Amino acid sequence: MRILHVVGARPNFMKAAPVMAALSKRGMAQTLVHTGQHYDANMSAVFFHQLGMPEPDVNLGVGSGSHAVQTAEVMVRLEQVLLERKPDWVVVYGDVNSTMAAALVCAKLRIRVAHVEAGLRSGDRSMPEEINRLLTDQIADLLFTPSIDGNEHLLREGVSRDKIHLVGNVMIDTLSRLLPVALGGQGHNEFSRWRDRPYTLVTLHRPANVDDPALLGQLINALGELSADIPVLFPIHPRTRKQVERLTMPAATENLHFVDPLGYMEFLALQSKAALVITDSGGIQEETTYLGIPCLTVRENTERPVTVTLGTNILVGQDSNRLLEEARRVLRGGAKKGSIPPLWDGQASERIAEILAAAQAG
Ligand code: UD1
Repeated sequence: MRILHVVGARPNFMKAAPVMAALSKRGMAQTLVHTGQHYDANMSAVFFHQLGMPEPDVNLGVGSGSHAVQTAEVMVRLEQVLLERKPDWVVVYGDVNSTMAAALVCAKLRIRVAHVEAGLRSGDRSMPEEINRLLTDQIADLLFTPSIDGNEHLLREGVSRDKIHLVGNVMIDTLSRLLPVALGGQGHNEFSRWRDRPYTLVTLHRPANVDDPALLGQLINALGELSADIPVLFPIHPRTRKQVERLTMPAATENLHFVDPLGYMEFLALQSKAALVITDSGGIQEETTYLGIPCLTVRENTERPVTVTLGTNILVGQDSNRLLEEARRVLRGGAKKGSIPPLWDGQASERIAEILAAAQAG
């Protein structure tokens, strides 16, 4: 059986790595296609290296563009690859434009698609990722969910029960494998600089938070104020950097540290020792829950509700005053205690590989 994986953007890489490793243990022939949605070395190549992933067999070189352009370019270029390589299954990950574009090409070519991280819903269709999730799940042939709410959404949307498999969270497979390595890492990097000091770690990149200069300005001001209490370390996504460069910075920012996007290992180590994490990322809500680190999510909703009901995550919305208030509450010792959701046990990719292998036999 030939399996072809499609990855495109930073959050895909740590999900594909353990699935590929589990399939490779079972002797499956695999091809890795990188769409090139993310192309900067620190958004892509560094992850392949640190996660021990094979070099992509094909890079579609799609790059940036409007949603329509990016999605269409992935479709046109991937179609050729699929016609040549004729895989039995294509595996897609998460909710980025590359995920949905790949699933759609496969559906039209009648190539079976497996979606890893299926069923997540924020209920917010203004998020491009929500559209990608809804469409991918409607056309996938196998749907691997990280938590039971995923199964419930899919059943409600009419997806047939026999396609849905609750397998747990593949990102946690990677995290649990690499955390000891990340913490043991030597050398001079951001983690070694901060490891013995308290700090707050921040990431913001959602269009809803960073594309409006007024809102972004308020959030950065709040972080500036917070940095008077505790140093704030902010690895900054390229999209956010472009917007921040246009803002007038708050007066006292010597404790607000903007750095380039970090590799997987460095960021993981920093997360695991942070006093507080502030983010609008999906994956970081999950990683902090697993690590037991307090997380404030700068969004009105989340497609990962178990991180709120079971984990350490609190949704603070886009109100910068509320963000500052909650951050100070956590730093005064008022953090919420969380637990690890079921099946976030480091074995999700093994379950996926078993099911894919059985799908071949059937
Ligand atoms: C994408 C995903 C988002 C995910 C995020 C993680 C979609 C719709 N969004 O958002 O779900 O959380 O990745 O990072 O697929 N850029 C660079 N270098 C790069 C990549 C991007 O400079 O390597 C800049 C470009 O100017 C680009 C902008 O960042 O226009 C946005 O990139 P894009 O891939 O469109 O979406 P992300 O915001 O990264």
